[in-house]
Amino acid sequence: MCDTSKGAHRMEEIMKKKALAFAMAAMMAASLTACGGSSKETTAAQTEAAATEAAESAEDTSTEAEETEAAETEAAGGVLIMATNAEFPPYEYHDGDSIVGIDAEIAAAIAEELGMELEIEDIAFDSIIPEIVSGKADMGLAGMTVTEDRKQSVDFSDTYAKASQMIIVKEDSEIAGPDDLAGVIVGVQLGTTGDIYVSDLEAEGTTVERYNKGFEAVQALSQGKIDAVVIDGEPAKTFVSETEGIKLLDEAFTEEEYAIAVKKGNTELLDKINAALKTLDENGTLDEIVAKYIKAE
Ligand code: ARG
Repeated sequence: MCDTSKGAHRMEEIMKKKALAFAMAAMMAASLTACGGSSKETTAAQTEAAATEAAESAEDTSTEAEETEAAETEAAGGVLIMATNAEFPPYEYHDGDSIVGIDAEIAAAIAEELGMELEIEDIAFDSIIPEIVSGKADMGLAGMTVTEDRKQSVDFSDTYAKASQMIIVKEDSEIAGPDDLAGVIVGVQLGTTGDIYVSDLEAEGTTVERYNKGFEAVQALSQGKIDAVVIDGEPAKTFVSETEGIKLLDEAFTEEEYAIAVKKGNTELLDKINAALKTLDENGTLDEIVAKYIKAE
């Protein structure tokens, strides 16, 4: 069957995202014409009208009619771009050519709920929020902690995990808890909450070493270049289990919660994500995904 109306709606959505309005409209009109039938002229015209509209309002203030159309569009497909930093096992990491982990699977499950195709972009952690703000990515899943500061730039979904910043030290270290971090050299991943909290200790003489990847901080620790690493608990456990001579301290540095970031004011996507999260929570999918990556102790 040649469903021209869905094609046109989908078209509109894609163009809003990519702002390739006219080239795409031409392509679409051509391919729709190929479908034949009496509706072809109308359809091509509609497509062009949609293209013009999309081009004129890439930054989009939707009317109600458009919103209904958009809902249909997403049910009919469309691409959902997730920005992440795949250096954070078990939430996101590389396994051969693919990016796997709890966040990758949650995102895939959300995309499936929305009838969309998931695309994952692996970038520096501190580029994720800018990427969402600029609209290059639709959502950020990166074991990202909700903070008041980040809320100034993006909107967050309902939280889907609890986490804490933990401290990793050498096995023979005298550092036994957060209070002992004053005056020592602490490694963190750049732009993370670990970075933010440890930076507060600079006033107490702590030196902060910022690395692009959490694992680089752990390596520096095992090589004796720094005294401690502050990083989220789950990656901390993974790194400690893979590295000789280091240990995780029991006492957490902070308690936090992870959520999905979307562009500020994109309530349409946010509502859909929250509805999908609720479904995935209620039908046990979230628990299944977590259990696959985090073994109960
Ligand atoms: N939870 C911390 C934060 O929000 C660290 C997240 C790091 N995530 C990553 N994928 N590298 O800042």
